[in-house]
Amino acid sequence: MKVVKVEKYEEVCEHASEMVLTAWKQHPQLVLGLATGSTPIGFYRRLVERYLQERLDFSGITTFNLDEYYPIKRSHPQSFARFMKEHFFDHVNIPAEQIHILNGEALDTGEECSRFEAGIDAAGGVDIQILGIGRNGHIGFNEPGTPFGSRSHLVALTASTIQANSRFFADPSEMPRHALTMGIQTIMKSKKILLLAVGEGKAEAIRLALQGPVTEAMPASILKRHPDVTLILDRGAASLLGGGVQDAAARDSQ
Ligand code: GLP
Repeated sequence: MKVVKVEKYEEVCEHASEMVLTAWKQHPQLVLGLATGSTPIGFYRRLVERYLQERLDFSGITTFNLDEYYPIKRSHPQSFARFMKEHFFDHVNIPAEQIHILNGEALDTGEECSRFEAGIDAAGGVDIQILGIGRNGHIGFNEPGTPFGSRSHLVALTASTIQANSRFFADPSEMPRHALTMGIQTIMKSKKILLLAVGEGKAEAIRLALQGPVTEAMPASILKRHPDVTLILDRGAASLLGGGVQDAAARDSQ
C-alpha cells in the first residue's frame, strides 16, 4: 500500500480530488466508487469547485456508492442518497441513470444487492473506489467479522457504528440498525482504491490496517492484498504509524 501523509484535511481532499481528476482526464468514462461520511465531504467540495472553475464535463462518469442505511427512504435527510445529492450530484452533470446507490427502500434486499452487483459488472468494474474507514476498521459497512469473500449484502450494524452515526439523526433512536453495503470482495475488485482518513480517532484503525495481521476482525487489513491502494492520511490519522510511514507501508505490502 502506498501511504501519502499530509498535514491537514484540506490537503487530503486536494490530493484525492487531483488523483481522480487526473484519471478522469485520461478516461472520461471513469467508473467511480463513492463513499459517504464526514471524511469525503471536502473531497466532493473540491471536485465541484474544479468542475465549476474549469467548466469540466462529467457526463461520461458512472458512479456506484458503497453503502446505504436500511431501511431508509431516499428522501430522508440522513440517507446516503440525499447526502450524495447535496454534496456532489446536484452540482455536476453526471446523468441520473449513471448514478447507482443501493436502495434503502427495496423490499427484497437480496434482489437489490444482485442488481447492484450486476450493474458494476456491466459498467466494466469500478476504476477508482473512494473509501473512508470506521474507528473499528470497517470499510463501507463491512463490520469486523465480515467474510473477505462477501459481495453486496444486508448487514446488522454494530453498537459502535450505531453510536458513531446516530448523532446525525434528529432523534438518535431513528437511526436504522441495518445497512446495505458493497461486500469486501466487491471493494477488492476495484482497479484502484483511495482510502481517506482524518484525525486521531482513526489512527488506531489505520495502524492496525497497515501494520497488523490481515484478518476479518479488521476489515481494512485486507487492503494489503490489493495491488493498487493509496492511503491519504492527515497528521492525526498517521500519528500511530511511527516515523517511517513509507517504510512501514512498503514492508507491509510485501
Ligand atoms: C460510515 C460509512 C463508511 C465511512 C465511515 C467513517 O458509517 N459507512 O463508509 O467510511 O463510517 O465515517 P466518517 O468519515 O464520518 O468518519
